[in-house]
Amino acid sequence: MIAYFSGTGNSHLVARMLRKLTGDDIASIPDLIKKGTTSLTSNRPFVIVCPIYAWKIPNYVEDFIDRTEFKGTDMIYFVTTCGGEAGFNCKYVENLCKRKGLDFMGEVDITMPDNYLIMDDPPKKDEARKMIEAIVPTVKETADHISKGEIINISPHGGMFRTYVVNPLFYKFNINCEGFSVSSACDGCGRCVSDCPTGCISMDRGKPKWSGDCIQCLSCINRCPTTAIEFKSKTKGKNRYVCPISDPDELL
Ligand SMILES: Cc1cc2nc3c(=O)[nH]c(=O)nc-3n(C[C@H](O)[C@H](O)[C@H](O)COP(=O)(O)O)c2cc1C
Repeated sequence: MIAYFSGTGNSHLVARMLRKLTGDDIASIPDLIKKGTTSLTSNRPFVIVCPIYAWKIPNYVEDFIDRTEFKGTDMIYFVTTCGGEAGFNCKYVENLCKRKGLDFMGEVDITMPDNYLIMDDPPKKDEARKMIEAIVPTVKETADHISKGEIINISPHGGMFRTYVVNPLFYKFNINCEGFSVSSACDGCGRCVSDCPTGCISMDRGKPKWSGDCIQCLSCINRCPTTAIEFKSKTKGKNRYVCPISDPDELL
């Protein structure tokens, strides 16, 4: 079973490519959380697909794994999408598996367009498309290992300091609802509310308002049809990014 989380579509695309290649079932982690799911059952290996946030899997995904009972098989793979720096995530998720009593089968980090426009400027559509086309061999190879139940050879990763020391500081100082604002371009369509995976946006007198457990997936900023949402002054004038390929058949 493939359980995925995605803010701007990269991990969703990879999850759907893996589903097509392995024939496994697929489930959205936010939907599972909304349904109050506390256990998952599968007799094929579990596959977690999600982005890298500050050099490891998002706390949101880690908390879900911690709370969830995995039944049927102990085997679990991790497939992450990132902007090119996954830090020590491989070792981090291996330790997570140890504390859960799960059988860690390996971790693959797939470099895709970076959606973190608070720090970077995401690529334009054409460049993004080229980057995504380049992931196909890695996804196929990963799917092959998963289908055969083979351990994925874990390559050594650097970045232990970032994953274990900078990550908690990043969460403490960067991940909150403060900083979001909306310009007069907002027409009150409510798309940000329905897209928010953690339900932390509501409408207040026709405009979005952020409160609660924002995980800063940046879906709201990146998907706003009128480019009305900003985070402080850090996102002004920058490209917005949503994965330009929604159908895995375009690549497979
Ligand atoms: C809060 C946040 C933190 C991020 N941190 C990293 C990082 O440490 N290293 C990296 O390579 N990419 C980082 N990124 C970029 C995403 O991992 C990358 O664009 C990913 O493919 C987005 O997946 P999605 O479209 O499924 O949400 C970060 C993105 C966000 C929103």
